[in-house]
Amino acid sequence: MPRLETGRLLLRPPDAGDVSSITAWIGDYDVAKNLASAPHPYREDDAKAFIERMAERLAKGEGYCFSIVRKADNVFMGNCGLNLSEGRCELGYWLGKPFWGQGYATEAARKVLSFAFHDLKAESVWAGWFHDNPASGRVLEKLGARLDGFEPRTSVARGHAVACHIVTLTRAQFGRKRAA
Ligand SMILES: CC(C)(COP(=O)(O)OP(=O)(O)OC[C@H]1O[C@@H](n2cnc3c(N)ncnc32)[C@H](O)[C@@H]1OP(=O)(O)O)[C@@H](O)C(=O)NCCC(=O)NCCS
Repeated sequence: MPRLETGRLLLRPPDAGDVSSITAWIGDYDVAKNLASAPHPYREDDAKAFIERMAERLAKGEGYCFSIVRKADNVFMGNCGLNLSEGRCELGYWLGKPFWGQGYATEAARKVLSFAFHDLKAESVWAGWFHDNPASGRVLEKLGARLDGFEPRTSVARGHAVACHIVTLTRAQFGRKRAA
């Protein structure tokens, strides 16, 4: 499992020391409601199961999940990762609320996309964002995403399907954005 680094961030595999932070931050409904599979309320066992699932995916070559750690103070802020199941590559990310609005999600996702395109040789990566979560739409727009369409996707925390924008990021477009 690689460790990635950006100017402000260390991206490393999740470990047992992240459980209490994951539980606290995803326990906030404003985070959970924008994720597909996080339940609400969110308990420590959910965080432990999440870390185990991510380790299993890594072992099977079906995914790479990174914990986003701020280098300045070694604080865990969230996760960013790739799900490679079903022959496609999906990008996902979340941050605890105190860390929103400082460019961290874009910085982490840009590095993980670079890993997908250059190390994993992915041709394209897809992502979905719920219609009422424009901050995530903006993150993906900044990274060069193209809108493919809409489809209902389940939000476990909300307990129902939610209209979701489906976007694609291609290696070519990502390269153009980086060069700009
Ligand atoms: C979505 C999320 C990851 C964004 O993290 P972040 O670190 O705040 O993102 P960034 O700071 O890199 O970029 C956010 C952008 O959205 C913009 N934004 C924030 N709120 C917005 C709103 N209500 N409407 C439009 N744009 C908004 C910001 O201004 C910023 O754009 P800018 O750089 O052009 O100013 C974070 O809010 C989060 O974890 N939410 C809960 C979980 C989640 O939504 N995960 C993604 C699932 S698809």
